[in-house]
Amino acid sequence: MSAGQWWRDGVIYQIYPRSFQDSNGDGIGDLAGVIRRLDYLQWLGVDAIWLSPITVSPDADFGYDVADYCNVQPAFGDLRDVDQLIREAGRCGIRVILDIVPNHTSDRHPWFIDARSGRAARYRDWYVWADPKADGGYPNNWLSPFGGPTWTLDERTGQYYLHNFLPQQPDLNWWNPEVRQAFDDIYRFWFDRGIAGFRIDVAHGIVKDRELRDNPVATDADPAHVRAHGQRNIYNMERPEVHDVLRHWRTLADGYDVPRILLGETYVLDVRTMGRFYGTGDELHLAFNFTYVHAPFQAAALAEVVAESELVIPDVGWPVWTISNHDVSRVMSRWCAGDERKLRTALISLLTLRGTPVLYYGDEIGMPDTPIRREDLQDPLGKRHWPSPRGRDPERTPMQWRNGKGGGFTNAAVKPWLPIGDTARDVEDQQADPGSTLNFVREVIALRRSSPDLKAGQYRQLTSPANTWAWQRGDTTVVAVNLSGRRARIPNLTGRILISTTRSRDGERLDGGLVLGPWEGAICFSASTSAPVR
Ligand code: GLC
Repeated sequence: MSAGQWWRDGVIYQIYPRSFQDSNGDGIGDLAGVIRRLDYLQWLGVDAIWLSPITVSPDADFGYDVADYCNVQPAFGDLRDVDQLIREAGRCGIRVILDIVPNHTSDRHPWFIDARSGRAARYRDWYVWADPKADGGYPNNWLSPFGGPTWTLDERTGQYYLHNFLPQQPDLNWWNPEVRQAFDDIYRFWFDRGIAGFRIDVAHGIVKDRELRDNPVATDADPAHVRAHGQRNIYNMERPEVHDVLRHWRTLADGYDVPRILLGETYVLDVRTMGRFYGTGDELHLAFNFTYVHAPFQAAALAEVVAESELVIPDVGWPVWTISNHDVSRVMSRWCAGDERKLRTALISLLTLRGTPVLYYGDEIGMPDTPIRREDLQDPLGKRHWPSPRGRDPERTPMQWRNGKGGGFTNAAVKPWLPIGDTARDVEDQQADPGSTLNFVREVIALRRSSPDLKAGQYRQLTSPANTWAWQRGDTTVVAVNLSGRRARIPNLTGRILISTTRSRDGERLDGGLVLGPWEGAICFSASTSAPVR
């Protein structure tokens, strides 16, 4: 595998920088903190870190509202810290992926400040403006996933501006070639600094319908999430022209030696649409699979998403899997109801399916969502919708490094930006415990690294009883999980357990079958390939 393909084999670890490690006692994580924890990441065995935005932001949406794309948020450090992080991470064999937000800027970005200064302003056309309807109403029916219309009237200039997210996040006009040029420069700025690539925010949505047509209203035939939203987002996002932009970025990224990677937040809940973002190997390297994240934690449902993804992702593409991130409830709470056994089976799927795993910080120790009181809310969505939906703070709380006040994240005397969860679940204790989930994750990652089957072998689902899911990778590796509270037997398996979720069974010989206890899973060496393929 050439250096340019490292991301196929590698494990990517997502860091929410505000919550990883505070190095200067202000209760907010920072880049120096990430540098301090590189030893840990190296010990865990990850190949790259993806940092949620570290660029300058008024934090209306915690970094996802950018006011300067080429500078660092002062609370996180400065450009020298980024350079140092890239250098020191590189020494640990870890690459750095940054987050880029091309769909919108902050309303405090100089471009937008200028744009709203008058209809003839230099940057006016960098954003999406529209006249009010005759009755003064919104230009069309578009609704924001954050709630409410996507339009805000700019009183001074008498036009509405578009914001698919918060009013403080005006959408850029991707029909304007100057916007495209500006982002080329931003991409180069960071690529030249030596980052390994970008996670692209809202990668499916940056181009809008040029005529700003109304979205079709949801019907009974639409999936539940569309019905809940009330309309199909086909004109305010997911326009076919977005693929031109992605192809252009791919050329730009591929022009580097080593090629930079593009990991897209393709927030579409159907696998077929997701698959299109790979193009013919000329768009995204990796397109996030949100159908998997939002699937119910049931063997048949998960297996179906994987089967469809395997079909849909072109041969020139490569799957990417994730089970938590900064926008959804953590896997320990969402799928596993706090049950460590369930968590390990979920982590097995993440780490042994064909594709690149993206592990969210804290999932390796099984951090659950942390309940947040109203007075501690930070996320604008939590504030807007309190008490339900509860916003995204619960999955963004500080990393639990150590048991005790401050959790090793910040000084005991400091109030962290979000409350710290129960630090009885922490890195230090789990490192010392060979049976911990943390050591389990570390060993599965190490196994991946040493196993050509797990890195690159084909995925084939095997026939297995209801509520279990078994698959073969390559010639001699079989993975099986029992997602039920009853014992189950995976037939036709001869070989040996390499790693089991219970750990006490590691090394056990298999002679014609594998009996799994409730919520148990195992990665096996399989001598016979007689297990029937589904
Ligand atoms: C993406 C980010 C999310 C953010 C939104 C708007 O979905 O992951 O955190 O709020 O974009 O920028």
